[in-house]
Amino acid sequence: MDFTSFLKVLRGDARLTRRQACQLGGLLGLSFSAVCQLWARPVRARSRNVFNKEVAMRLPAPVLDGNISLEKTIRHRRTIRSYSEEPFTLAQLSQILWAAQGITEDGGFKRAAPSGGALYPIDVYAVVGQNGVQGLRQGIYRYDPPHHSLEERADTDARKDVARAALTQMWVAGAPVVLVLTAEYRRITGKYGERGKRYAMIEVGHVGQNIFLQCDALGLAAGIVGAFDDNKVARTISAKKNHEPLIIMPVGWQR
Ligand SMILES: Cc1cc2nc3c(=O)[nH]c(=O)nc-3n(C[C@H](O)[C@H](O)[C@H](O)COP(=O)(O)O)c2cc1C
Repeated sequence: MDFTSFLKVLRGDARLTRRQACQLGGLLGLSFSAVCQLWARPVRARSRNVFNKEVAMRLPAPVLDGNISLEKTIRHRRTIRSYSEEPFTLAQLSQILWAAQGITEDGGFKRAAPSGGALYPIDVYAVVGQNGVQGLRQGIYRYDPPHHSLEERADTDARKDVARAALTQMWVAGAPVVLVLTAEYRRITGKYGERGKRYAMIEVGHVGQNIFLQCDALGLAAGIVGAFDDNKVARTISAKKNHEPLIIMPVGWQR
């Protein structure tokens, strides 16, 4: 890391990449958990440029308790394919993303869903429709768990394109928000070889069920879609390089 970037990180104007945190941790002789905290160090302001048009936006803090029992959400959960146009709040989106991949240990890095070797190969992208979420403009966002923030990747309403890429299952586009769960396999195959791909696919199922149950607890509904053209979906959501879509989950109010 060059000196200017280091200064930016110290000022809280930029965040460390995972590699930079490891390098710095190695230089300073830090423990693994201290390196993770370095990596998770939050940026200062509500929004700032990360690179090109990528912008990071802090989400409201998740609520850590609720009124509906786990048993009720399990019993009630269904794949819902019809949604009303009513938007949901940023707090509700924040809650769903936290349930999917949020950090759930104080000062640590472990997440809501289990992960082989705690290597976390899954990313969650949110395709937000026009008026889909109050207080959030339409666009494509990637959830950043360590900072509980959104990175904006595009400013278009891409729900119909996602639905077309899902073998024209156009009901998908009726949801105010369409989540796309991707895997970056190399994060986990480095340790487990080809078997790491199996672990990532198992992990995405855990993340998906968390989304289902959290939506249910919020009175929202979710669907799940595995039938789609991988490359088209990756292109449509402006996925980062090597982020491969595994599952699509529309979320909204049941019609
Ligand atoms: C991996 C996976 C892929 C799926 N793909 C689709 C899909 O492409 N389209 C669809 O309408 N439903 C899809 N479903 C939903 C199933 O049809 C649904 O889970 C099943 O009918 C059971 O209903 P329930 O989820 O409401 O309990 C998928 C479910 C899973 C787990």
